Amino acid sequence: MLINQDMKMADVIHLNHHLLHVINRFGIQLGYGEKTVKQLCAEHDVPLSFFLEIVNTFHDPGYFPVENLLQFKASRLIAYLHETHRYYLDFRIPEIANYIQRLRDDDGFGPEVKLLIQSFFSQYTHELTQHINREEQRVYPYVLSLEKYLESGGGDKELIGSLKQYSIHEYEEEHDDVESKLFDLKNIIIKYIPSPRDSRVLNLILHELFELENDLNNHAHIEDLILVPIVEKMEQEFLSGSNNPKIL
Ligand SMILES: [Fe+2]
Ligand SMILES: [Fe+2]
Repeated sequence: MLINQDMKMADVIHLNHHLLHVINRFGIQLGYGEKTVKQLCAEHDVPLSFFLEIVNTFHDPGYFPVENLLQFKASRLIAYLHETHRYYLDFRIPEIANYIQRLRDDDGFGPEVKLLIQSFFSQYTHELTQHINREEQRVYPYVLSLEKYLESGGGDKELIGSLKQYSIHEYEEEHDDVESKLFDLKNIIIKYIPSPRDSRVLNLILHELFELENDLNNHAHIEDLILVPIVEKMEQEFLSGSNNPKIL
């Protein structure tokens, strides 16, 4: 069952509480009362169709309407993706770090186990942060500049020109590396910790890692399957010199 505009937001959360973080990224916080999705989107100045498509891709893994999503402006996608980055770096990763600190304080685990998990998590965090920084500092500004140029001719043409040399293709492959690091970390915890007396802290860490992975997969799908094709289209327009964007 997909989320629709007439549902009460409170019912949306009862149906799938994992959507809370996604809804927060649109600036819509708790305290929904009896208001519907449509009412809350209007109140917060959130485009309803964009909200529904994003929330539903998260809600139903089988729902990924590429054609619908390709209609949105790159800048709209980037605003959402940026909020998602903030959520990973400011909230989710520190939360997992807290659990790992609990593990370090737990006498039930040997120093080698603590060190192994700590070092894998540090490596993973480092790679994820680097990837996000590259997108925030290089890829997104390039895309926004390109969009601005095509819409009004007022973008930073020099920036577009220099970054044009690498094109949007290049950064796509990075997602696989970041994903495999996370998979390795999960596997170490699932398979290779020598039978602990009490694995509840590890269960919590694992649960957090699965949640993060699920969120990141959705995020990477939006980047790879939606943002990249939109940018490729803009690059073609830019190269052909036809200042006639058809995006909404
Ligand atoms: Fe990203
Ligand atoms: Fe990414």
